Amino acid sequence: MELALCRGAPARLHLLDGRPEGAASAALEAGRRLADDFGIDHPGLLAWRPLAAVALHAAGRPERSRGTVGAVSSFKIATCRYAEVPPAASLEGAHVNDAWTPTGIDVSTPSPARMYDYCLGGKDNYEIDRAAVMGFVTQFGEGLDVTRANRLFLYRVVRYLAEEAGIRQFLDMGSGLPTQANVHEIARRFQPDPHVVYVDSDPIVLAHGRALLSAEATAVIQTDMTDPRGVLAHPDVQRIIDFDQPVAALFLSVAHSIPDDGQVRGMFAATADALAAGSFLAVSQFVGLDGETARAHTRKATEMGLVWKTRTIEDFRPLVPDLEPVPPGLVDVADWRPDPGQPALSTVDEPLRPFLGAAGDGKQVTEFGGVLRKN
Ligand SMILES: C[S@@+](CC[C@H](N)C(=O)[O-])C[C@H]1O[C@@H](n2cnc3c(N)ncnc32)[C@H](O)[C@@H]1O
Repeated sequence: MELALCRGAPARLHLLDGRPEGAASAALEAGRRLADDFGIDHPGLLAWRPLAAVALHAAGRPERSRGTVGAVSSFKIATCRYAEVPPAASLEGAHVNDAWTPTGIDVSTPSPARMYDYCLGGKDNYEIDRAAVMGFVTQFGEGLDVTRANRLFLYRVVRYLAEEAGIRQFLDMGSGLPTQANVHEIARRFQPDPHVVYVDSDPIVLAHGRALLSAEATAVIQTDMTDPRGVLAHPDVQRIIDFDQPVAALFLSVAHSIPDDGQVRGMFAATADALAAGSFLAVSQFVGLDGETARAHTRKATEMGLVWKTRTIEDFRPLVPDLEPVPPGLVDVADWRPDPGQPALSTVDEPLRPFLGAAGDGKQVTEFGGVLRKN
C-alpha cells in the first residue's frame, strides 16, 4: 500500500495502490502505529487523521518521505511506502491540489465533480473549477443553495432507503468526490453492513475515493454510467452487489451531464430492468423552471467547457421510468421529505458565502428529483 499526500489538508491522503486489506478503522489505527514508530509528538493531528499526520510529517522530513515501514502487519498492512510526497506543507493550506495533482487529472477544464466539491465546502478542486462555480453563481445566484440542497437530499434519500425501506445495497452512479456524508457512511447509521459501489467517470474520483472508501464492502470504480450493462458487469460490482436482492441505484445530480435524452432514458431503464423487485431508483437533475432559463443555464455551462444539459421539468419527467413513486414523488429536491434537523454540510469558501441563502429570493433553476420503487 502506498501513501501519498496532497498539500495542506489531512483529508488528502491517498492509498494509491488498491485498497487496504483491513477496514478503514484499521487503516487509521495503522496510522497511529506508524506515528508511534516515527515518534511524532503532535497529539492534535494524531487524534484527527493519524495517517495524514504521519504523511505530513514525512513530507516535512525528507529522510522519512520515502522508505518502507513494516510496523503494522497485525492490521494486514504489511508494508507502507510513502510515495509521491509533495513539497512540505502546512495544515493551514487552502486548496491542496493546486500544489499537487494526481496523475492523469486534467486541470485545464472544469470538472463537475470538482465544482460540486467546491460548492459543498470541499478542497479537492482547482482554480478552474472555482472560477466556473463563481461564473455560475454570478449569473444564477441560487445555484449554490440548489447544489447543496441536492447533497442534503442525498442524505435523506439514503436514510429513507436504509432505515425505512431496509435497503443494504447501493450503486451510487456519478458519485462525485467522496467529501462528506458519503452513501456508505449514511447507510451504516441505519444498516449494519451496507454494500456500496461508487461509480464515476472522472479519474479524480477514483484517485481520492480509494483513500476514503476502504471498507471491505465498498468500492469505487471509474466507468461510464451511460453503459449500465458495463457497470453491472464490472468485477467489483459483481463482487459487492447481489442482484438477487434489492438494490438502490442512485442517479443524483447526474442526468444534466448527459445531454442526450435517449441516453438518460436508456441508462435509467436498463438499470431498473436489471434490479430485483423491491429495488429503488433515485434520480435528480438540474432543471430550469422555464425553457429560456434552462437554455441559458445550459449555454453558461457549455461556454465553460462542461458537457451539460439543463432540462425543464417537462423534459426530464419522461426520461424517468414508470415505477412507483415514493411520496412525495418527483419534486424540487429541497421539498423531498425536508428535515431541518439533518446533519449540516460544511460551510463554503469565503468568496462563495455571499451566495448562501440566495435561493430564498426565488429560484429560476433547481434540482428536481425523487425516489421510485420497482415492484
Ligand atoms: C454533481 S456530481 C453528483 C455527486 C453525487 N451524485 C451527489 O448527488 O451528491 C456529478 C457526478 O457525475 C459524474 N458523471 C458525469 N457523467 C458521468 C458518466 N457518464 N458516468 C459516470 N459518472 C459521470 C461526474 O464526474 C460527477 O462526479
